[in-house]
Amino acid sequence: MKNLKELITSTRTFRRFRQDVPVETETLLELIELARLGGSARNAQPLKYAVCNKPSINERIFPHLGWAGYLTDWSGPAEGERPTAYIICLLDTTISTEAECDLGIATQNILLGATTKGLGGCRIGSISNKLHSALNLPPHLKILLVIALGRPDETVLLEKSEKGGGIKYWRDKDEVHHVPKRSLEEIRLPL
Ligand SMILES: Cc1cc2nc3c(=O)[nH]c(=O)nc-3n(C[C@H](O)[C@H](O)[C@H](O)COP(=O)(O)O)c2cc1C
Repeated sequence: MKNLKELITSTRTFRRFRQDVPVETETLLELIELARLGGSARNAQPLKYAVCNKPSINERIFPHLGWAGYLTDWSGPAEGERPTAYIICLLDTTISTEAECDLGIATQNILLGATTKGLGGCRIGSISNKLHSALNLPPHLKILLVIALGRPDETVLLEKSEKGGGIKYWRDKDEVHHVPKRSLEEIRLPL
């Protein structure tokens, strides 16, 4: 069992997966159960989740997602390294008009849970507005975020960004993905 910092540190964004390793429906339900347990403004709980691990539906979702905007020479995971499951995070607009804080809490719970199960994923906010109709979703449900999931098949390293320096993630010649994080000194405001 990892301690909390190790768990958070290893819960990185992964964008390349073992497409031959499925994610079971039961696992997806366990992950949205973790989302269900998270905090919610006014305890309104306006988030709903559509889970998918069927290759035929995955194929309908994938073309509507935007991957890694900073990696301009990479258009996203190739066939063979694509996510094997998705959790589509939906806002029930009959309950609330926004849920950005709830969404952060819920998706972090999901991704932390995924790490404990040997899985990993990527939150995707860059979503074509055609995804809603591609999935025949009811009009009162608004897509907020898609979490792509699977067994990660890439190495991701955190590194310290220099003060005022670059925050763009990048890939080296060995295909290792580097993620600069601002230092504690830079994010702390001493009072
Ligand atoms: C709200 C949100 C939206 C994101 N949208 C995308 C996206 O559309 N496409 C993508 O490839 N990554 C997306 N990401 C992943 C970020 O690029 C990633 O979190 C960032 O590079 C830091 O890496 P880390 O998650 O490993 O710390 C998103 C992350 C968040 C929190």
